[in-house]
Amino acid sequence: MLEVTAIAKNFGGLKVLQDVSFTAGSGMVTALIGPNGAGKSTLVNLIAGVLRPTNGTVLLDGVDITGMSPVKVFEAGVARTFQVSGNVSELNVFECVALAAYRRARGYREANRLAREQLERFDLWQYRREAIGDIPSAMVRIVDFARGLVSQPKVLLLDEVMAGLTPHEVDIVIERVRECRAEGIAIVMIEHVMQAVNALADKAVVLNHGRIVTEGALAEVTAHPDVREAYLGAA
Ligand SMILES: Nc1ncnc2c1ncn2[C@@H]1O[C@H](COP(=O)(O)OP(=O)(O)O)[C@@H](O)[C@H]1O
Ligand SMILES: [Mg+2]
Repeated sequence: MLEVTAIAKNFGGLKVLQDVSFTAGSGMVTALIGPNGAGKSTLVNLIAGVLRPTNGTVLLDGVDITGMSPVKVFEAGVARTFQVSGNVSELNVFECVALAAYRRARGYREANRLAREQLERFDLWQYRREAIGDIPSAMVRIVDFARGLVSQPKVLLLDEVMAGLTPHEVDIVIERVRECRAEGIAIVMIEHVMQAVNALADKAVVLNHGRIVTEGALAEVTAHPDVREAYLGAA
């Protein structure tokens, strides 16, 4: 289980997150929703160790991982995708996933096998020789998803992985998320594709202006007047 407690993040004088607390249970999809600029990606970066919070703690199965480096957080069992990938690497799709597999595998043969399994699972095997820097950003996010899974994470942070996909591709990724849930992974899903949110969210947490507005069952949450306001205000 992931427990985020009283998280705050300031960038200089700008308060991007204030007093954010929520939990994401194992074998559950927790949808983190809210308009652009609400602070969702910042929250993912804080959990993943890319940013340090100004205040608050992040616990993974009761262990404090606040302020650990991204590599340590990953090794502790938190995998993530990037909304905007800064990955301009010349590694190809296969190498990118295999590199993550080396952390867990006993040798390169096993790492290669694990990487192949995940790439086939996501229908990416045919793109294995493409350089990461050359493929569309929507595909990079799916490669990051596959890469996260080879590490057998406890927590999976998905930052808008459905964006830019066709409805058919969305269905495939929804199926993959369901499998992750069935495997007992705690999934935190930031998503604007409502088809996916409706299909997957066991719980929704709504963020606006860096604060949690409400949380609960999706139907409850989307009926909340402040949530309607947040979305209409943003439109
Ligand atoms: N490194 C940064 N420095 C200053 N402001 C930032 C930084 N990263 C994000 N922000 C600001 O924080 C706010 C939340 O951004 P973000 O977390 O990307 O929102 P979301 O993912 O919900 O769209 C925005 O106003 C954004 O401009
Ligand atoms: Mg974002």
